[in-house]
Amino acid sequence: MNNIYGVILGAGEGTRMKSCLPKVLHKVAGKELISHVIDCLNHVKLQKLFVVIGSGSDLVLKHLKRFDENLNITTALQEKRLGSGHALLQIKKYAEGLKGHLIVMCGDTPLVRQETIKQLLQYHIKNKNFATILSGIVNEPFGYGRIVRDSNGNVSCIIEEKSASQEQKQIKEINSGIYCFDLETLWQALSKVKNDNNKKEYYLTDVISILNKSGYKTDALSITNEEEILGINDRKQLAYASKILRNRKLDKLMSDGITIIDPTTTYIDNDVIIGQDTVIKPNTSIEGKVKIGKNCQIGPNTCICNSLIGDDTIILYSYVDGSNIKNNVKIGPFSHIRPDSILKDNVKVGNFSEVKKSVIDKGSKVNHLSYIGDAIIGKDVNIGAGTITCNYDGNNKHQTIIQDEVFVGSNVNLVAPVKIGKKVLIAAGSTITENVLPNKLTIARARQIIKVRKKK
Ligand code: UD1
Ligand code: CA
Repeated sequence: MNNIYGVILGAGEGTRMKSCLPKVLHKVAGKELISHVIDCLNHVKLQKLFVVIGSGSDLVLKHLKRFDENLNITTALQEKRLGSGHALLQIKKYAEGLKGHLIVMCGDTPLVRQETIKQLLQYHIKNKNFATILSGIVNEPFGYGRIVRDSNGNVSCIIEEKSASQEQKQIKEINSGIYCFDLETLWQALSKVKNDNNKKEYYLTDVISILNKSGYKTDALSITNEEEILGINDRKQLAYASKILRNRKLDKLMSDGITIIDPTTTYIDNDVIIGQDTVIKPNTSIEGKVKIGKNCQIGPNTCICNSLIGDDTIILYSYVDGSNIKNNVKIGPFSHIRPDSILKDNVKVGNFSEVKKSVIDKGSKVNHLSYIGDAIIGKDVNIGAGTITCNYDGNNKHQTIIQDEVFVGSNVNLVAPVKIGKKVLIAAGSTITENVLPNKLTIARARQIIKVRKKK
């Protein structure tokens, strides 16, 4: 299909969030509300996506830029928030004349599944509807627009809570705020919407009765999973939605062959990829864009953000951020791997060691209490306990290079910039300020003296 368009209404003020951040940029399960909606629509192969944003939404505009490559997004600014109908009207100047179907979603419904949107579209097209509402049957319809059906069961209008009669308030079928419209008939109907209601707003929902009265078929596809259509208005709902999304993600991972020891204390963002037979232990967060290979053991008490992890790697009681960890690596307990680090196969970074912006080549070990920053470390290097790369002179960072098979004794300071040649041995307690050529032994500490002790 090549005549499907989408629009996200996202200009609402989000007052109940009590936040300086636009509502649609708040995150659920590690991803902005609007990004969830965009990703959902992205599966429908849209011809174009329109986004209606509110004034002062420079941040939203900036955020949308990251989707530029894959999606054809046009934004429209709604300067005054005069209602959802008025919001949709803002894209008329870009969309008038287009033929096909328009899927309308709100920017604050992150739980809708892509399958549901596909179903809505198929139902709309199959039944030759001019407007199809995604509706839901809920126990607590308060606050939602109600779907009013005639004696034949056909949808005749949507009535908003504030305008509903006592009898209409009993209706449990509600409007999710998600619709599919025939583009050609939409604009004329939308221009007939008035703001003669309690809120003095132009309600998009009024389009349904206008179309219906003009003889255009209006319909609703009702879904039973009411959590899918939850709109986020406050922080409690934000937390609730995060929990639902996280559970969905954990269920999916477990059915794909990943062991999650304790789902109640495991937080894995939506875009995380994990390979078969990897075990995730309790109290572990995996955030942002992370890919983990097969047969790994992650956790307990571990946080991994925006990193790549190979196969057979073990990470326990540690924090890994923005790094590339290869196969059969062991990190922790209690290690901190900071951004731009590369740990190649069979590397070990152990107890209370920190690595920053460094490359550690195959088989090397940083097992105890070390700081490795701005360093390039070769293969099979042993970094003794308490070794520090002194990389910062107060103004600039400097590099330490340690070539293959170097043995660095315990408690060594490497004052960068400095280069240690292949197979060098650095004696324990040395402060190294000068380059060392390959195969040398270097000692840089005061010689021990022993004197007679004066007794008191
Ligand atoms: C709306 C529906 C209601 C439905 C409910 C589902 C209307 C009139 N009512 O009510 O039937 O049950 O959603 O959650 O549409 N927006 C703008 N500009 C505006 C006003 C709103 O962009 O001037 C956007 C909001 O960002 C939001 C959407 O339109 O994404 C819906 O507006 P909102 O004020 O949240 O409507 P509800 O009262 O929730
Ligand atoms: Ca809403």
